[in-house]
Amino acid sequence: MIAGFSKKTKQGKINWLASECFANPTQAKQILESYWNSDEKLQQLHDEFIENAVSNFYLPLAVAPNFLINDKTYILPMVTEESSVVAASANAAKFWSTRGGFHAEVIGTEKSGQVHFLFHGGHQLLHDFFTSIKSTLLKETESITENMRKRGGGIIDIELINCSESIDNYYQLHVRFETADAMGANFINSCLEQLSTTLKQEALNYDGFSDEDKAIEVVMSILSNYVPESRARAWVTCPVDELGENGAEFAQRFVQAVNIAHHHPYRAVTHNKGIMNGIDALAIATGNDFRAIEAGIHAYAARDGQYRGLSKAWVKDGVFCFELEVPLAVGTVGGLTKLHPLVKWSNELLQHPRARVLMKIMAVGGLAQNFAAIRSLVTTGIQKGHMKMHLLNILNQLGATSKEKTAMITHFKTNAISFNSVEQALMTWRKN
Ligand code: MEV
Repeated sequence: MIAGFSKKTKQGKINWLASECFANPTQAKQILESYWNSDEKLQQLHDEFIENAVSNFYLPLAVAPNFLINDKTYILPMVTEESSVVAASANAAKFWSTRGGFHAEVIGTEKSGQVHFLFHGGHQLLHDFFTSIKSTLLKETESITENMRKRGGGIIDIELINCSESIDNYYQLHVRFETADAMGANFINSCLEQLSTTLKQEALNYDGFSDEDKAIEVVMSILSNYVPESRARAWVTCPVDELGENGAEFAQRFVQAVNIAHHHPYRAVTHNKGIMNGIDALAIATGNDFRAIEAGIHAYAARDGQYRGLSKAWVKDGVFCFELEVPLAVGTVGGLTKLHPLVKWSNELLQHPRARVLMKIMAVGGLAQNFAAIRSLVTTGIQKGHMKMHLLNILNQLGATSKEKTAMITHFKTNAISFNSVEQALMTWRKN
């Protein structure tokens, strides 16, 4: 245990960690320092994002070109560590670019947050009180919502929800928000905290309450990352004959695979993980909160009580249709968008999208990944492409030189890739 760690300087923290936790303190320090940025201002910017920063943790930023979305071409910025994800996206983009491209739409942008509180005087009394103070609740948030209202957002409505059947005396103020181009977490939480203050204050002054009723106990006030009213839908469609050789058979196997994910959670989770490969990579590149997006999407996948695959596929009258609908709370202003140079870069690459456009792009990113994964799964199997992309990782792990890498890439164009087969081939090549 250590007291006052956060008070140490950055160098003090590193020295302490190196000497207390590492067999080779000099090497431990060197590793951290080798990832510092030589531009001191840039390094300071990153250090100030979080508490106790000691270094930078790199993930590659890649691009997947040729995404035709609603007749406009995009290059998607993607941040991921998984070897095959970007190649899969790029392949799916190319495939659909000659088949009408991707289509996408936004179905709502509403978010919500709740003030969770306890009240002992019964629902009818609370309902009357809420009705009498609702306009005051809204009025007291006006200074917080002023800028957002100018941008077309703000509080849409506040409802009182009786939750006392699940927990004794438990109620919610369920507040619906529009946050325009911001993800809106800070805005929503500030509004909710003000609402909770006003709620408690008004209760103290309410004549209809006994002394006990006046003591409303707020448990917490926080936005919800479940955003089923803020959704985007992406889809692709083409005649089965245009899907390639044996298009009809491929379409049938594809639909079967999607149906399996609809009915069986073991498959659904992996199916959706593939979708998130695309959505998370875009979320990180554009400075969005991928944990919030993940949590909201997985909850949506279980909205009818069973966890299901998020996409749908069918063939009707010889036409293949594949679609994905996901809840998304994303921002293109606020948060990291004006701070992180690579986030700014990514947003410029995407032609400075409004939040609604980014929602569509993300849904397409998820659909493209899902298409690429299922296409491989029902044809060649996933490992062929996956291991091809993973080859360089294995070679790096084995300390291969550039020359050795070139030779191995040629060799494994026609040979099956596994860690052992690469190790053997490299050893043989080195001997010869
Ligand atoms: C791997 O990251 C993702 C897949 O497993 C997704 C899927 O199985 O659909 C390939």
